[in-house]
Amino acid sequence: MTTADAVAKAVTALAADGPPPLQRAPELEMKSAPSVRVFVAAHHAAVNAILCDEERFSLRHYDELLAQVAGPTRYLVGENDDARKLRLRLLHAAQGHVDAVRRPAAVPNDPLPPNLALGYRDFIATIARDEASRILKVLAVRGQTGSPVNFAREYAFLLAYRMARRVVGVSGPDKAPLLVWLMIAYRNWTQAGPKVSLKGEAGTATTMLTLLHPLFGHVFGTVVKSTAVMRAITANTARHALASFDLALDKPHLAPPESLLAGLHAVRGQFPEVSDEDYRVQSRSVLFELAGALVLIVGKSLGEIAGFAVSPQGHAAGIDWPGLVDRLAVDDPTRTSHDAVINEMLRLGSSSQLVRTVRNDCTWQGVALNAGDRVLLHIDQASHDPAAFAQPECFAPAPDRPYITSGPLQGPHVCYGRAIAWTIMREAIVATRGQIVPVKGASLSAFLALPDNLAFTAA
Ligand code: HEM
Repeated sequence: MTTADAVAKAVTALAADGPPPLQRAPELEMKSAPSVRVFVAAHHAAVNAILCDEERFSLRHYDELLAQVAGPTRYLVGENDDARKLRLRLLHAAQGHVDAVRRPAAVPNDPLPPNLALGYRDFIATIARDEASRILKVLAVRGQTGSPVNFAREYAFLLAYRMARRVVGVSGPDKAPLLVWLMIAYRNWTQAGPKVSLKGEAGTATTMLTLLHPLFGHVFGTVVKSTAVMRAITANTARHALASFDLALDKPHLAPPESLLAGLHAVRGQFPEVSDEDYRVQSRSVLFELAGALVLIVGKSLGEIAGFAVSPQGHAAGIDWPGLVDRLAVDDPTRTSHDAVINEMLRLGSSSQLVRTVRNDCTWQGVALNAGDRVLLHIDQASHDPAAFAQPECFAPAPDRPYITSGPLQGPHVCYGRAIAWTIMREAIVATRGQIVPVKGASLSAFLALPDNLAFTAA
């Protein structure tokens, strides 16, 4: 039985049985870790409660998985230990510096935190519009030859990479390592349609994505243990990716002045108690996590949203590509309606799962759990739970819908970059207006679970 089949079986049992809110999934357990039991949660109320309950459900497996392949690098998505608290302080200080550079006459009394503030979102939107229009200008040439545009790789992932370069301040490696060449050769051999090239800036973007991809699979796709092969591949690609961050940290003056890297460099003096070595390790971790989220998650989400909008399922749900562009093009200074549309598209069209580790032996909502048990949170299923979303298959964006596609709704692990991501995606979609349109009958193909090809054409 495949992992997907095992999860589907647990989800079906949950739907049929009603309570309890967790279903054991023995097929996901491993002989090499006999003491670790696996449970699946798929009801919105249960998933949301677990996501917000860090006292009982820890994120320490993310730290352990990272330690296997990326040395001292850690994510904010992890145990809330002293190192994480320091990383958070670094991020907030760097963000404060960026804000000061961006608008020296800071607006006082902005009720929103800096990463959600409308002024910061306007700044992100300006960069996104700029980068999107540059890419579209190059793609417009295809109008003369009639050759298609691959929305996923030539637009979504390229734009996501360029946003990471400007917002975080780190570029990808000049040369693709051997493993990337092999992975792209395999991709070109197995996938139909236009080949992917590793040349030029698009090649650098592809290299960065390909280097980050195994790490995300290893950290976020593992329920109990990943395979030795996966760990070996990930250790190799993570090492090459991290080398780019080391290079960038060595030359902070090359980073855009409004980037987080420049911010981290500028606020070093605010942390005299932190050794140079620790400052570097923790700064690199912050930059690495944020760049990874931008390059991979934003690109993936944008590709999946477009894929859903052009699909028969999108039509059945009540949304298509022109309709999506029109809805997002409507002016909304608060961005509330845009955010609802993006979140609704993520709810309907994107896929993800999260994992938690039970901290201590306990009984949770009538289910006896042992310390170390894993709980797989089925975000897609929870996002289609009729108890939380009336007519769950229909496109019905609303700001008060309990979207959990960007993780916990409250608590210490709320997604830091959600407003940044929603802003980029809104701008990216609106920028295509009159520039590129889906090819009739186009459908999104995937390669190793990431969007790979979606045919558009110059308008
Ligand atoms: C559509 C795009 C995005 C989606 C769907 C998304 C989703 C998520 C999810 C599900 C989590 C929680 C993980 C968990 O609790 O296990 C999370 C956390 C996080 N995200 Fe995002 N994310 C997105 C974009 C971004 C971007 C662009 C950034 C950075 C610029 C970012 C930075 C973070 C950080 C730092 C955390 C950890 C928060 C913490 O634990 O303190 N995310 N995100």
